[in-house]
Amino acid sequence: MARSSGHVSYVASTVPIAIVMTVLCLLLANNVSHARRPATYYVGGKFGWDTIIPMDSWARGKTFYAGDILVFKYDDDVSRVVVVNRTGYETCIPNAGSKEYESGNDRIQLPYGYSYYIGTYNEYDCAAGEKMAIKALAPK
Ligand SMILES: *[C@@H]1O[C@H](CO)[C@@H](O)[C@H](O)[C@H]1NC(C)=O
Repeated sequence: MARSSGHVSYVASTVPIAIVMTVLCLLLANNVSHARRPATYYVGGKFGWDTIIPMDSWARGKTFYAGDILVFKYDDDVSRVVVVNRTGYETCIPNAGSKEYESGNDRIQLPYGYSYYIGTYNEYDCAAGEKMAIKALAPK
């Protein structure tokens, strides 16, 4: 008899655990389906993509994730954006295989890892601060 009452109390204590586990699973599944949405950033804030402020200083302190969108806004008569590699960023000279944008309202999705952007409309823009290196973390 002592044995059977032990069995009963075992069942009684596992039922709440099963409920807790079910609720936990539902919460986790819910959390996954509400994963962080990609954020949209307007590069340079109110200044846009420009030499007014160093673009790297705009990016500093922000945490970017792969999939986030960078919007480059600028006057397409006096600027453009070139996606370069680290050499292009350091030298301010677009590398072979770099990609140029010139719409004045370019939406570029961040890939995982480092991305580099420079302005090349005239040869001084990049050196004057129209350049930006961004590290995007794995999406959460
Ligand atoms: C950037 O691209 C150029 C041209 O393809 C290449 O020579 C250079 O090594 C690259 N730099 C880096 C850091 O990958």
